Amino acid sequence: MSKEILKKFIEIRKQTEAVCKPLEIEDYSVQPIADVSPPKWHLAHSTWFFEQFVLSEFKDDYQVFSEDFAYLFNSYYNNAGERVLRPNRGLMTRPTVKEVYEYRTYVTDSIIALFKENATNEITTMVEIGINHEQQHQELLVYDIKYILGNQPTFPKYDGNFILSEEKQEKKYISIAEGIYEIGHKKESFCFDNELGVHKVYLQPFEISNKLITNKEYIEFINDGGYSNFNLWHAEGWSYIQDNNIKAPLYWHFTDGVWKYYNFNGLEVVNLNLPAMHISYYEAFAFAEWKGMRLPTEFEWEVASDHFKWGNLWEWTASAYQPYPNFTKADGALGEYNGKFMVNLQVLRGASIATPQDHSRNTYRNFFHTSLQWMFSGLRLVKK
Ligand SMILES: [Fe+2]
Repeated sequence: MSKEILKKFIEIRKQTEAVCKPLEIEDYSVQPIADVSPPKWHLAHSTWFFEQFVLSEFKDDYQVFSEDFAYLFNSYYNNAGERVLRPNRGLMTRPTVKEVYEYRTYVTDSIIALFKENATNEITTMVEIGINHEQQHQELLVYDIKYILGNQPTFPKYDGNFILSEEKQEKKYISIAEGIYEIGHKKESFCFDNELGVHKVYLQPFEISNKLITNKEYIEFINDGGYSNFNLWHAEGWSYIQDNNIKAPLYWHFTDGVWKYYNFNGLEVVNLNLPAMHISYYEAFAFAEWKGMRLPTEFEWEVASDHFKWGNLWEWTASAYQPYPNFTKADGALGEYNGKFMVNLQVLRGASIATPQDHSRNTYRNFFHTSLQWMFSGLRLVKK
């Protein structure tokens, strides 16, 4: 077990750096909006996580790389002390990118040394959490890099191989029978605490699409006045799109009489056959209303998921992010990982093209605020 974890640790550390490889040095430090962290910050923060929760805890005489870094690169762990506030991450031109890469090497080497001398179960468990945490940041890095480059006037390319694929299967609706179903992770392998607590739910019979909504369907919604018909929107969503002048998914531009979007190849004409992407929950809901359909609950999604191919985009569900029955928070900082976010957020299920391999499962509960578009999000509908 510990050998596998060590191997995976080494791979994951390299993969994060591979995501950043196509960047220029100027791309590393900017924070165009509060939600988009600088790539340099992700590189350092995912490293700090191992330093704080593994090395400082378990390695005798461990010397931190820099006394400043816990303050600079702690994200939201109140148990781990004061920190630079989220909107100020982009103000840090120091440490330099070079120093952050040196920090990564120092911590990676220290974890390898710790593993070789003392791979207890406790250490292995913490390193496994750190690996999964870093994989989450790999995906966030892709979102943030897209936002940084997609808001440049020149729409530069990024050679990262995160391209959507067409869902070629013929569209049909899968019928799921009424019944009592088991939800949640059985803990036979790694999962996050928010997936634990297998429990039963009763589901009405429902019919769910085997495909995500495509750009072609989404343009029909736009052309039919979807963004100007308040009857389709939640009050909060309607206000939000007015206040922020939102008339299309993120990265979409109507130029030369045609919809174009930024993808990692630059600015291109929207491919009608691909799944619609960069849609907020507000938009997903309005679209479903327009179609006379609805979003699945996260339980419906989990029960139906064996029937469809997933992994293109995270899919909005109609479920608020709430603890499962019997959910318990860990003590201390790790208890801050998931539990404290269980209010005012919506669950997304599935995985996206930016999700690292082996970091997805059909019990995985992702969660974001209803207004956000920058994640790799899409939608699948259920008949009413
Ligand atoms: Fe984090």
